[in-house]
Amino acid sequence: MQGREQWATRVGFMLAAVGSAVGLGNIWRFPYIAGEYGGATFLIVYLVCILIIGLPTMIAEFSIGKRGQLDAVGSFSKTAPAKPWVIGGWLGVITSFLIVSFYAVITGWVLYYMFSYLTGSIQQVETGGVEDYFGGVVGDAIIPVIWQLIVMAIIVGILYFGVQKGIELSSKIFMPLLAVILLVLAGYGLTLDGAGEGMSFLFVPDWSALGDPSLYLAAIGQAFFTLSLGMGIMVTYGGYLSKQTGNRLPGTATSIVLLDTLFAILVAVVIFTAVFTIGADADQGPTLIFVVLPEVFNQMAAGGTFFAVFFFFLVFIAGLTSAISLAEVSISFAIRQVKLTRKKAVLIVGGLITLLGIPSALSQGGPLSDFTIAGLPFLDFVDVLTDSYFLPIGGLIVVLFVGWGWKSKAALEEADFKSQAFAKIWLFLIRFVAPLMIIIILLANLFGIEA
Ligand code: PHE
Ligand code: NA
Repeated sequence: MQGREQWATRVGFMLAAVGSAVGLGNIWRFPYIAGEYGGATFLIVYLVCILIIGLPTMIAEFSIGKRGQLDAVGSFSKTAPAKPWVIGGWLGVITSFLIVSFYAVITGWVLYYMFSYLTGSIQQVETGGVEDYFGGVVGDAIIPVIWQLIVMAIIVGILYFGVQKGIELSSKIFMPLLAVILLVLAGYGLTLDGAGEGMSFLFVPDWSALGDPSLYLAAIGQAFFTLSLGMGIMVTYGGYLSKQTGNRLPGTATSIVLLDTLFAILVAVVIFTAVFTIGADADQGPTLIFVVLPEVFNQMAAGGTFFAVFFFFLVFIAGLTSAISLAEVSISFAIRQVKLTRKKAVLIVGGLITLLGIPSALSQGGPLSDFTIAGLPFLDFVDVLTDSYFLPIGGLIVVLFVGWGWKSKAALEEADFKSQAFAKIWLFLIRFVAPLMIIIILLANLFGIEA
């Protein structure tokens, strides 16, 4: 048996984790949630959550993988033999598998939009008609499946090449490319007529919004989702760390968190400068990027198509690298548990993910839209199940395991803090603050409080 794969460089590892973190959560979810909760006010609460919950939890996940040197299930069980903590690993595999099945469907819509701009078909939709256009695309019996298959084929193709030549290399190309596109778009956004209004919406807080409890729930939930926490990804990626690439984890994790946040904010600049330029509403919810933005692009006097093609290409790459990290959790698991070669594992797991995604692809107005579970279309059901329940439970197990299941000496050794003070703060956050916040979220989800 060959030695296990590992990251080639620390930067490569960091960029791969950024690739996972920066995704539809930054581009599609963050702006609309920020929009619903008053822009700048949400941003402030969100930043606090990232700092006191997100960052410490990410360091905890990396530490588990680094210690175990295996996939999510293997790393949990190796570091805590014969203890129930391994459930955290299993839950990670299940959650990431479920999420990637519909994540690939949404990434497929995005790719379809990009091509529709290139062929000029969205530009011909008359003003106010994009909502119907979107409904037609996602509700079609064939289009969503075809584009889901294309996206899955690309994911499988990249993962086939392994950790260094697949995940790490593609991240080294894609992440800088994303940064350039985003900077160009943000620069362009700032020249638009709505720039001033968009920027003040985003950066001038309305303190009264702080009284709304659901704002805090939304901020914590977004912190987990955006950093890809609670689903075994960072444990799996931590499992490919060596002594060299895995030293000073807190520094690496801080860079990842900062870059993810910077991406989210810049994307919000792009979106809100554009939205205010045509005077559209900022609080439109999930259809912001598929309906509102295309209306904006269509009404731009100049540059609309340019803006649109680059924007959807950006979303596509961001979605792709996140989907890769999600799929890798199951692949890494299958390689060890079922003793498959990487190539076989990639093909088999990729095939299974694709199959599970098909009912999601057909559920948004398509042939399977009447097939509901708990009153929800298939895609929505899988989304809510993972997002509201599996994810926080997975995160809870991680922080409890590292905070309480390990001796603090072991935890601190893996995390490798250079400063004693930060090490103490970290332990305090993962022992008390993070578990408490996560439990609050879970209870809120269970009792149906709207986030
Ligand atoms: N972190 C990704 C984002 O912000 C989303 C994601 C969630 C990726 C879950 C992987 C797993 O879009
Ligand atoms: Na993110």
